[in-house]
Amino acid sequence: MLKLMLGDLTALKQQRQKITMITAYDAPSARFADAAGIDAILVGDSAAMTVFGYDQTTTITLEDMLVLARAARRGTTRALLIADMPFGSVQVSDGDTVANAVRFVKEAGVDAVKIEGAGPMAQRIREVIDAGIPVVGHIGLTPQSATQLGGYKPQGRTASSASRLLEDAVTLEQAGCVAIVLEAMPQPVAATITRSVAIPTIGIGAGVECDGQVLVWHDLLGLSGKVPKFVKQYAELGAEIVRAIEAYIADVQAGRFPEPRHTYAMSDAERERFESHK
Ligand code: KIV
Repeated sequence: MLKLMLGDLTALKQQRQKITMITAYDAPSARFADAAGIDAILVGDSAAMTVFGYDQTTTITLEDMLVLARAARRGTTRALLIADMPFGSVQVSDGDTVANAVRFVKEAGVDAVKIEGAGPMAQRIREVIDAGIPVVGHIGLTPQSATQLGGYKPQGRTASSASRLLEDAVTLEQAGCVAIVLEAMPQPVAATITRSVAIPTIGIGAGVECDGQVLVWHDLLGLSGKVPKFVKQYAELGAEIVRAIEAYIADVQAGRFPEPRHTYAMSDAERERFESHK
């Protein structure tokens, strides 16, 4: 299986073929996504909620993210692997941001890091790119700044805020980003941004006209509780997991598990010798 390169994402945009991305946070999940033929796996800082059970993304640490990214790397063969730089790893000096980004490449072998924000963050992103580390941008609803944005709300719903998003996308393209995630914004805004930049846009809650789509693993597979309006659930694995564990509990309690086929045999002679030692 030929490994995808970052340039393949731009080629997909040019060929008007949609790009597919999903989050994954461990080796088996990454292996499943890769086997299904996904283009890119994102080790998102959404792991703060989906894996660690926090109620916001800002709590997850750089070390947490590196553990997850290394695990996902071991399960990824063909897809591109992208990791989120968590809150605190980029809210430092340019030099420290570059050093933190380097760790994702050296320790987890990621193809790119994702950094939220534009505006004042654009220069820092440029520094990371100049250091030779590809960056995926992320604008719109940027969960690391949810407090400043007034909560987990869609962005760009007024003409002026939509224009700002367009400017941010162009700034990120000029800074050298390889792609931009557009999160939670009206479809016409994402469509205009997608037409205005040569790099691919990956939407989440941004409509069908983006160059690609990303969904969170737990949302797509029915492993989350309440999901945002923009999620389509493709399975109900949470209910299936509860059903399986309930069946296991019932079998153990009723003595139906383990069956003889689940146990190890012993020759009669060895058994007799064992019994005589008792
Ligand atoms: O952390 C994450 O999972 C993300 C996606 C929602 C794009 O940033």
